[in-house]
Amino acid sequence: MCGIVGYIGQRRVVPIILEGLKRLEYRGYDSAGLVFLQDGSLHKHRCEGKLVNLEEMMDKVVTDSHIGLGHTRWATHGPPSEANAHPHSDCSGDLVVVHNGIVENYQTLRETLIAEGHVFSSQTDTEVLAHLIEEYLQDDLAEAVRAAVKVVEGSFALGVMWKKQPHLLVAARYQSPLVLGVQENGGSFMASDIPALLPYTRDVIFLDDEEMAVLKADSLQVYRLDDGAPVQKEIQTINWNAGMAEKAGYRHFMLKEIFEQPQAILNTFRGRIDAETGKVNLPEIGLSNKELCSIKRISLVACGTSWHAALVAKYWLEKWVGIPVEVDIASEFRYRRLLLDSEVMVIPISQSGETADTLAGLRLAKKLGARVISICNVVGSTITRESDGTIYTHAGPEIGVASTKAFTSQLTALFLFTLFLAQVRDSMTDEQSKQLVKALLELPSLIEEELPRLQKSMNYLAEEFSRSRDFLYLGRGANFPIALEGALKLKEISYIHAEGYAAGELKHGPIALIDRDMPVLALAPKDSVYGKLISNVEEVKARHGRMILVGSVTDDRLDEMSDYVIKMPDTHEELTPLLYTIPLQLLSYQIANLRGCDVDQPRNLAKSVTVE
Ligand code: AGP
Repeated sequence: MCGIVGYIGQRRVVPIILEGLKRLEYRGYDSAGLVFLQDGSLHKHRCEGKLVNLEEMMDKVVTDSHIGLGHTRWATHGPPSEANAHPHSDCSGDLVVVHNGIVENYQTLRETLIAEGHVFSSQTDTEVLAHLIEEYLQDDLAEAVRAAVKVVEGSFALGVMWKKQPHLLVAARYQSPLVLGVQENGGSFMASDIPALLPYTRDVIFLDDEEMAVLKADSLQVYRLDDGAPVQKEIQTINWNAGMAEKAGYRHFMLKEIFEQPQAILNTFRGRIDAETGKVNLPEIGLSNKELCSIKRISLVACGTSWHAALVAKYWLEKWVGIPVEVDIASEFRYRRLLLDSEVMVIPISQSGETADTLAGLRLAKKLGARVISICNVVGSTITRESDGTIYTHAGPEIGVASTKAFTSQLTALFLFTLFLAQVRDSMTDEQSKQLVKALLELPSLIEEELPRLQKSMNYLAEEFSRSRDFLYLGRGANFPIALEGALKLKEISYIHAEGYAAGELKHGPIALIDRDMPVLALAPKDSVYGKLISNVEEVKARHGRMILVGSVTDDRLDEMSDYVIKMPDTHEELTPLLYTIPLQLLSYQIANLRGCDVDQPRNLAKSVTVE
């Protein structure tokens, strides 16, 4: 998705913009640009490709300007090019706009504006916004922006600048994230995400939908877009330091984040479990025990890796809480007939809290009267601010596009939620609760100990399989979604075609794929479906598939059944999904490395998909 950075204050703006855009690179982009005001004129610099091209361009530019806007573009309308890169200008060239989102009615608006004499210079939907604001512009930029966006359909996070009001920037948002930064000694910032602000301030204001802001060197005021009324906003202090958003010595953010998982899991359950009594406490849900006991059904909604977390949670919730759980891919959920009401709890799961399909599903659920409790990793993100309550994962910023620590943190939060609901609804014995809590408390150190050994094993395996063209992942029960997740990890960062399958489905088609060249990885913990899984492994071996088994270190049958064996420490059966996902993350990471892929920013992908 696109990245926006804007600043007005006492400091030189160009270094702030370039540093900020660099910290937003993880969002995925294909061109970049910036604009600053100098000696009464707007100076625009844009280029196709990576940010380094813009940096090289700016090395030749001398300016001490203190006001400007920057942007990294992830193309939605019009290919990546300098002409399509932001900022975009109106006809006069005195007004510029940077934008993240989609103007769904841009064709109609463009035709109307052209008929009124506006001349366009790009193929983007964003340029329509510049000319539209120009239409409404008299002597107040903020008022012109407010009037213009009223006729816009779609989503926008906007930064706008006008040379005739050189002491202010205007920001506006609807269904696309925008966060404002404030500095004690003056200086106001806008950005698409928190990391761009961290070198300068941790005091932030999250713009809500249908809000705008006027940023000045010594003040920042938020207004409602509909009537222009001022809005009092809370300043939140972000406890991520800039270092957390750095690689901390790892080659890639993804590897750093894989190794951060013990801490992320610990931070997610910290303060929510009484180790003595095994009691779980989730006050942030904001529901009384009576309300929690009145829930008749749970509906989990998510995309991608977060959907895999939802699939695991279905097994846990139905087993330990005893109520029906539906799981939907958000892009399907929002277009099918939903049978929701106040007795249904809908749980959107999202790392970013900005995924358009998941957000749309949340809004639909609320409209139908369901209670919405989200699980999210980003404080103050749109999904959290529109939920009735949020169970935050505390994974810290996840920069790598392929989700790892956020996924195991989501599983941790969902496991906590299962325990909490089971305790409130008395559907689990105290002994069962204590056993499960004990296993969860032990998990971070168990993973911590195993990570270096697992990395070595998976690096060896990666050497064997980095040239594979296909990969099959098999699992049963709550490890079936982990097979899906392992396959997604591999395909999204190494570009090898990989499929995850319920192991019992093998004979219903996929077994036709098995031959000497087909690597098949099966998750074989000693759980209640182990025997069935082993039968599937035999089916693969009988057809000379290249078998990789991930199983228990105490299972001495593995070696005789498999070409390669990854041995895992024993943990409670319910927690094997959290544990067994880790070798799969390491395997996909190392294979992608060996294949020279861009691990942190895989081609075509974005960290947060804020468009449909
Ligand atoms: C994760 O590895 C993927 N890159 C992607 O599927 C991601 O999980 C999905 O886009 C959902 O994102 P969210 O959790 O921020 O909503």
